[in-house]
Amino acid sequence: MSALLTAGIVAALAASPVAAFWRLPCKSPIVVERADPIISPGKVSNHLHTIVGGNGFDFTMDYNSTQASTCSSCTVIGDNSNYWTPTLFFQHQNGSFESVDQVGGMTVYYLQRAGEGEKLKAFPPGFRMVAGNPFKRTAGNDFASQAISYNCLDYNGPAKPETPNFPNYNCPNGLRAQVFFPSCWNGKDLDSPDHMSHVSYPANSYNSGKCPPEFPVHLISLFFEVIWGTGKFANQWYGDSQPFVFSMGDPTGYGGHGDFVMGWDEDLLQSAVDQCTNDSGRVEDCPVFDLIPDSQATGCRIPPQIDEPVSGILAALPGCNPVQPGPVATPQSGCDAPTAISPSTATFFDDITSQGWSYVGCGTDNYYNRILTGASKSDDQMTNEACAAFCDSKGFSVAGTEYSKECYCGNSIPESGKPIPGVVGDCTMKCSGDDSGFCGGAGTISLYQKCSGDSCTNAQVGPGSSAPVQVANPPPAASAPASAPASSSAASTPPTSATTLATVTSKAAATPDSTASTLVSVNTDSDSPSTPSSSDDDSTDDDSS
Ligand SMILES: *[C@@H]1O[C@H](CO)[C@@H](O)[C@H](O)[C@H]1NC(C)=O
Ligand SMILES: *[C@@H]1O[C@H](CO)[C@@H](O)[C@H](O)[C@H]1NC(C)=O
Ligand SMILES: *[C@@H]1O[C@H](CO)[C@@H](O)[C@H](O)[C@H]1NC(C)=O
Repeated sequence: MSALLTAGIVAALAASPVAAFWRLPCKSPIVVERADPIISPGKVSNHLHTIVGGNGFDFTMDYNSTQASTCSSCTVIGDNSNYWTPTLFFQHQNGSFESVDQVGGMTVYYLQRAGEGEKLKAFPPGFRMVAGNPFKRTAGNDFASQAISYNCLDYNGPAKPETPNFPNYNCPNGLRAQVFFPSCWNGKDLDSPDHMSHVSYPANSYNSGKCPPEFPVHLISLFFEVIWGTGKFANQWYGDSQPFVFSMGDPTGYGGHGDFVMGWDEDLLQSAVDQCTNDSGRVEDCPVFDLIPDSQATGCRIPPQIDEPVSGILAALPGCNPVQPGPVATPQSGCDAPTAISPSTATFFDDITSQGWSYVGCGTDNYYNRILTGASKSDDQMTNEACAAFCDSKGFSVAGTEYSKECYCGNSIPESGKPIPGVVGDCTMKCSGDDSGFCGGAGTISLYQKCSGDSCTNAQVGPGSSAPVQVANPPPAASAPASAPASSSAASTPPTSATTLATVTSKAAATPDSTASTLVSVNTDSDSPSTPSSSDDDSTDDDSS
């Protein structure tokens, strides 16, 4: 019987289709906060997450929320899903915690891993699931344990084995967490009380093969990769054990987990499941995808809604989770950590409509070719109010702050510098004269415009109830407005997201640099040189035999 079984597995593997997949680049987090609409809907989560995907994300959300997104930090048009993982900290010897920079956002692999005779299905609308367990602190041999692993990146040294927990040695090029989700669905429930029991790993492996009979629908497999720049702390290790700790107080890594809320256009996802068969893994090579430019994806973010610091050096982990090495860990709370979700104060712009100026959005500027060529100044007391007042006094109607302390004036915004409607953008530097305000960034400019007539309304920079659904297959550029509304009306017109977004993001418009070098990863530092689809298979075979 065992021989038969083995023969069966071999036959199934041999008969399996090409190991096709695509790597969805999610360029940056949309927010880092204690939110988890799957585990803690409507409440503050007990630990911090780093969240990527559509800006329809909220503490309480459903499929429709995802569809109200006006942008996503993942680059395929038509995917407004959300994906999240815990956040990583370095614990200093004196006990304080320092956030570890995430290298980019997340890479989400969609892997076509049908078992023999199975047809892969797209996730249905409303589907959600969790992989991993935040309270786990010990090794296990089950598929759920095998599905969480770490890869210690060292591009100049010998390859290190993957580990089920944080390795106890430095990773010069970063620590990569890997989360493989269950791919077999019971075909009925979009979710379940534990957010796991409506799905299962395949019958004989966590990452491939046929589904068990109780979970007959084989979905496309989901696999997250997140890299943290742990190498920066190489000289600060102390004691005998590795110094990194997950936001839930896990110093082992066994508690690694990932969450997924389906936000795809279902038909598009099914077409991709059926037609993205190029084994390059490049989203560019999938005939059904249109991509958004990287710059637009990185500018997609939402304001945090919990009033607490989440980065830099902190006395306690957000939510005051104690470090619990296990073997048992339990949910904790305390030290007056905020429990309220507040309307966000950080909206990434200042409301200076009372001064007669409205926010236009976060534009793009160029050091060698400024978009606003009127008066300018730079000082350590810069605020958006001060810049608008300065430009006003010089007779200009457009004001822009940049790089924290610079102010530029003009009378119109050239096409090249216009904000993308519905996208917050990369204007995330605090103003030199007011650290509650945002004054552009490096190459980005916070644009304000003098109001005329009766209306003085700030541009809408996030998702809204009236936001049109982002379309999967954008109309040809000619049939839609070429860009943002004319500058004179930009400030008072809500973004025409669907058409505008679709226009700027059609395949033809995708930036040329979002190609091989960034995505294929062999020689960039933001993606690792490994080939997870196959190395993953290998490790499974080794582990489970
Ligand atoms: C989601 O949107 C659809 C289509 O607009 C609507 O029919 C449905 O009632 C909405 N569902 C929820 C839960 O709001
Ligand atoms: C702990 O050490 C870090 C790193 O040296 C330092 O930045 C931080 O201020 C220290 N915290 C306390 C409370 O001493
Ligand atoms: C896969 O994509 C590459 C470009 O990266 C292309 O050259 C090749 O022809 C494609 N293969 C198939 C089978 O479509």
